[in-house]
Amino acid sequence: MSPSNHKPDLEESINVSEVHGSVVREAAACAREKRIVDNGIEPVSLWAFVACGIVLLIAGGVLGGGGSLFAYGVTFRPGYVRAPAGGAEDTGPVAKAAMAAYQSKGSKIFSAKCSGCHGADAKGNGSTYPSLAGSAYVNGETERFSMIILNGLQGPVSDGKVYGVMPPQGIGMAPEDLAGIMTYMRNNFGNTKGDVVTMEMAKAAIEISATRKKAGSSCSSEELTADHVKPLPGAALDPGMMLDPITLQPAKAP
Ligand code: HEC
Repeated sequence: MSPSNHKPDLEESINVSEVHGSVVREAAACAREKRIVDNGIEPVSLWAFVACGIVLLIAGGVLGGGGSLFAYGVTFRPGYVRAPAGGAEDTGPVAKAAMAAYQSKGSKIFSAKCSGCHGADAKGNGSTYPSLAGSAYVNGETERFSMIILNGLQGPVSDGKVYGVMPPQGIGMAPEDLAGIMTYMRNNFGNTKGDVVTMEMAKAAIEISATRKKAGSSCSSEELTADHVKPLPGAALDPGMMLDPITLQPAKAP
C-alpha cells in the first residue's frame, strides 16, 4: 500500500520524510495545472498585441507621411487674423460724472483716515471729536478746510469748543485724495454744498500748506482766521462733466 493515499495509521510507525515528500509532490502537481479561466476573459495572446502594433505603425506612417494627420495648415491658415468681437475694444474705465468720480475717491479716504475719529456718520462723539456734519469749517472756505486736513487743528473749532488736537492728515496725501475727501465731506452727512473741489485746487492747497509760517505744526484757529479764510484758487468744475474715474481727467469721447 502506497503511503501517499492512506492516512497514516498511528499504530504503524510513520515515515515522516516519506509523507512529507508526497505532500510536496502533490502541491507541485497542482501548481503545474493551468490556471482556470472563465469564458470571455481569457488572456489575449501576446501575438495579437504585436499584430495591432504593426497595423498602427503602418497606418500612422501612411496618414502622417501623407500629410492628412498633423496638417496644421488646415487648422491655422497663414495670415488669418481673428475678427474682434463686438465691444471687445478697450475703451478704458467707464466715465463718471465729476461729482461721483471725486466722491468715490473721497469715500475711501474718509474710511481710511477720518472715520476712526469722527465716526462712520461723521457726527463725532460730542466730547473728544467734533461733528463734521454741518460744520462751518467743512462747508465754508475751501482753503481753511484744506489746511485743517493737511496740518491738523488745535481748536477751538468752528462751534467755539475745544475737543482736543487733530493730528495732520496730509502726509502722503495726493492731490486727488485731498480733492476727493473735501468734495465728499461737503456733499455727504447732510452737507449739501454741491460743488467739486478740483485737483487743481487741491494742488494749490498743498503748495499753500508748504509755505505756512508755522509749517509742521497743527493749525490754530487764529491762524485759520488770519490767513486762510479764502476759496482755493482754480477754475470751478461742472459736477456733471464726464471724467475718467481713475485719473479724474475729462473722459475721451466714446
Ligand atoms: C486722530 C483723530 C482724528 C482724525 C484721524 C481726524 N480728525 Fe479731524 N479732528 C479731530 C479732533 C480731535 C478735532 C478737534 C480739534 C480741536 O478741538 O482743536 C478735529 C477737528 C476737525 C475739523 C474741524 C471741525 C470744525 O467744525 O471746526 C475738521 C473739518 C476735521 N477735523 C476734518 C477731518 C477730516 C476730513 C479727517 C480725515 C482726513 C479728519 N478730520 C481726521 C480728530 C481727528
